Amino acid sequence: MIVRSALLNVMMGAARKAARNLVRDYGEIEQLQVSKKGPADFVSSADTKAEKTLRAELKKARPGFGFLLEEGGEIAGDDKSHRWIIDPIDGTTNFLHGIPNFCISIALERDGELHAGVIYQPLGDEMFHAEKGAGAFLNEHRLRVSARRKLEDCVIATGIPFLGRPGHEVFLKELGAVMAQVAGVRRFGSAALDLAYVAAGRCDAYWETGIKPWDIAAGIVLVKEAGGYVTDFKGGSKMLDNGEIVAANDHLHQPMLKLLKSARG
Ligand code: IPD
Repeated sequence: MIVRSALLNVMMGAARKAARNLVRDYGEIEQLQVSKKGPADFVSSADTKAEKTLRAELKKARPGFGFLLEEGGEIAGDDKSHRWIIDPIDGTTNFLHGIPNFCISIALERDGELHAGVIYQPLGDEMFHAEKGAGAFLNEHRLRVSARRKLEDCVIATGIPFLGRPGHEVFLKELGAVMAQVAGVRRFGSAALDLAYVAAGRCDAYWETGIKPWDIAAGIVLVKEAGGYVTDFKGGSKMLDNGEIVAANDHLHQPMLKLLKSARG
């Protein structure tokens, strides 16, 4: 049995508690798909409810910590060196359409550095968790990024910009370059789970632009603790600031950066 820190236990406990309502709400979606009004309002209320639960649970355990919340924005705490970064539902479009690939994502930032991450996929009861220096896990199992070295053997995850998002042309260039070199490209619809899958070696790499801190903060800790590399497109560490991310195992990270750079021109 693995021994987890009190901090991870707090994060996992909060995720499980918020997930209970989320799963119940997800069960209602099928009914709502066929109603005239559609499920959009219902989903945004599920999102807000989950965020409220997460905030209350984490505040109870660590009263001084600040928050960066997808719905509620930035909330300063008395303790200036700690901040929770939370997405109550990552994969909201999936949730809305009754597609079961969504999760809760919670990260802890300590003195400006990402310190711990929990990504919980409630329908599959998959609890991905990692803390700096202590490794990455899926439930009780230690995670390690894939060992594949050749792009031709690899499955790569990505996020596709959609209506109202910029960067369609550039994305098509990136996709064109990547798809010509790899075994498969996947768009699962949850950036947090894409990163968890890289940490678990299910996918060999993941890239996206225009992504928000709450979508990727926990996943970054997971990939790094599973032995992978995560950077922005320039190879730097400003992913949370510039919304660019490339995550991969140690063999593929540089080739992916090179490929994306040449595709963008
Ligand atoms: C979205 C998902 C998706 C990614 C989008 C994000 P949300 O987050 O992570 O995979 O491609 O860029 O906005 O809206 O479901 O929390």
